[in-house]
Amino acid sequence: MYHDLALVLQHDLIVEWKEHYKEVFGKHTLLLKNRLHELPVFLPENLARLIEATPSEHYDFVRPGAIGTKKSQWLQGSIEGAKGEDVLRAVEEGRFWLSLRALQEWDEGFRQITSKIFDELEVKVPGFETFKHKTGMLISSPGAQVYYHADVPGQSLWQVKGHKDVYIYENSDPFLSGEQLEGIFLGTTEEEIRFEPWYDEFATKVTLSPGEMAHWPLNNPHRVENHDEVNISVTTEHFTKEIRDFYAIVYANGLLRAAGISGSRHSLGAMKYAKMALAAAHKMIYKKMVRSGATAKSPRSFKLDMAAPDFMSDL
Ligand SMILES: [Fe+2]
Repeated sequence: MYHDLALVLQHDLIVEWKEHYKEVFGKHTLLLKNRLHELPVFLPENLARLIEATPSEHYDFVRPGAIGTKKSQWLQGSIEGAKGEDVLRAVEEGRFWLSLRALQEWDEGFRQITSKIFDELEVKVPGFETFKHKTGMLISSPGAQVYYHADVPGQSLWQVKGHKDVYIYENSDPFLSGEQLEGIFLGTTEEEIRFEPWYDEFATKVTLSPGEMAHWPLNNPHRVENHDEVNISVTTEHFTKEIRDFYAIVYANGLLRAAGISGSRHSLGAMKYAKMALAAAHKMIYKKMVRSGATAKSPRSFKLDMAAPDFMSDL
């Protein structure tokens, strides 16, 4: 496998790059052609072995509620001891999504792929210097959805198999308020935020096919709808100095708001409390960045059971 991987990595993963993309990157939604879907890890038998090798703390196996239900109705399941092929069949025939997290930490292939991706982007986009790279994989059922939410780090979505519609919205009122953003950064708000169907009039909609990647501006809320086929996507996350400093300001503003002192998203002024909050926020940031996404969100209440209805039995 790694012999094949080495061959794929001899050439750029991002292809058909145009010079002017560097002016748009990170500022507007950008679609990039890439070769990620050519990687041997996505062959079903290799994928099955990767699933079996996933450490327990680095996956979510989720049974979403029926369409239109809240995230709180999602159930977390266990695939401990399951055959990778069975997990893939359950996703294909049932209604689940499997998220493998922090692949760059525990899989040598993805460690190399992640470095390669960011090395290429840093060459292509002058001044783009990143750290805290994180790579995940989402394997999801036909028709599965990811509800409207916003994320803290810089993000890209790489489509490997199937097609999905991605709706991307502006990172400002009314689509994302300062208070909502603070809540997300402080971890006091569910990632899920208020959504109204009319937001779609103002969304950028992209349909991702295998070999396409979408990158959008920091914190832009988004939601995803799979077409009627199994989807495999890869997500990459990164921080830059600017993102880290912005994190500190938003975090500090959130602390100030909680203390009854209002701040502004882009400037802290000269307030003494603001400075204290900013200093505190800076100290917290690395802890938060390290902790985020490292654990399963809620206890696992069912296990994969190929003989049970809906492939689920109680744990
Ligand atoms: Fe997201």
